[in-house]
Amino acid sequence: MVKIGEVEAGEFPVILAPMEDVTDSPFRSICKDFGADVLITEFVASEGLIRDAWKSRMKMQFEQGERPVGIQIFGSNIDTMMKAAEAAEAAGPDFIDLNFGCPVRKIVMKGGGAALLQDIPKMIAMAGAVVKSTRLPVTAKTRLGWDENHIGIVGIAEQLQDAGIQALSIHGRTRSQLYGGKADWTRIGHVKSNPRMQIPVFGNGDITSGPGAKEMKERYGVDGILIGRAAVGNPWIFAEVKCFLENGSLPSPPSVSERIKILRLQLAKSVPYKGERATLFEMRKMYSGYFKGIQGFKPYRMRLVNAASLEEVDSILTEMHYL
Ligand SMILES: Cc1cc2nc3c(=O)[nH]c(=O)nc-3n(C[C@H](O)[C@H](O)[C@H](O)COP(=O)(O)O)c2cc1C
Repeated sequence: MVKIGEVEAGEFPVILAPMEDVTDSPFRSICKDFGADVLITEFVASEGLIRDAWKSRMKMQFEQGERPVGIQIFGSNIDTMMKAAEAAEAAGPDFIDLNFGCPVRKIVMKGGGAALLQDIPKMIAMAGAVVKSTRLPVTAKTRLGWDENHIGIVGIAEQLQDAGIQALSIHGRTRSQLYGGKADWTRIGHVKSNPRMQIPVFGNGDITSGPGAKEMKERYGVDGILIGRAAVGNPWIFAEVKCFLENGSLPSPPSVSERIKILRLQLAKSVPYKGERATLFEMRKMYSGYFKGIQGFKPYRMRLVNAASLEEVDSILTEMHYL
């Protein structure tokens, strides 16, 4: 059993990677229904969190059924991060995750996310300080390094462990790569095979299928994996991956009617959570995933994306039963 501190995370945790404006509570709980072992909130700004901003509070919400669930926080100021961790603890998650990997310019310019990869002593001091400020286990998610010339992940991982981090997720890219190129799992494997590492090491990057997950598990020996983009509009990927890891076979893909049912469930969960307008807007990025590979979907996609009300989405979905 893989443990994050004392929290049981499954034999080989298959984790929904945190994604801003995607992995909100409604979507996470659907991924959980399909077998995701661990869930993590979208990143929450430490500055907003200590101001008790409405958006931060909303991002920290989760359903009890999502457990084990982590709240991810980011920021550049150690003191603020400590206070944010205390506030996040009050929301009752199972662990707190530190974002040391976000490559987005507006975050990095302010010294948060992947910027910490340019100041490892500060990253380690921040991790240690947050560990001391909460009773919950603290985990971290980062990348291989700042750029190809500064790949320090093996040493960074050791230092994070020494600072009290209880599990480490590694996205196999550098900050400079953003999301381009291919994730380099060899380097994730180097962290895992370092005999000094005791904490769970979770690999992340470009997993899109059951066979892909199995290959990374077996080849690199990681303790678990995170799946991000391939889960967008495709929550049943967790069932596929779990089935393939357990039996070496793939379940048949969901029928169009099943896809419509799951999508309707996500809409129904999302509206009370964020309202009709935001639901319509944020669901736009999900439609292609939900109906990937379904012949004749293209004209419906445009209609779904342009739909002005949930009623309209609902009637388009009814028409789509005939696909
Ligand atoms: C739209 C989007 C939003 C993301 N937001 C976050 C985030 O809030 N926190 C985080 O740690 N990583 C974030 N990521 C990175 C993912 O968690 C993951 O590390 C990355 O997408 C690589 O995994 P994948 O190849 O399975 O997608 C985001 C990625 C995407 C595409």
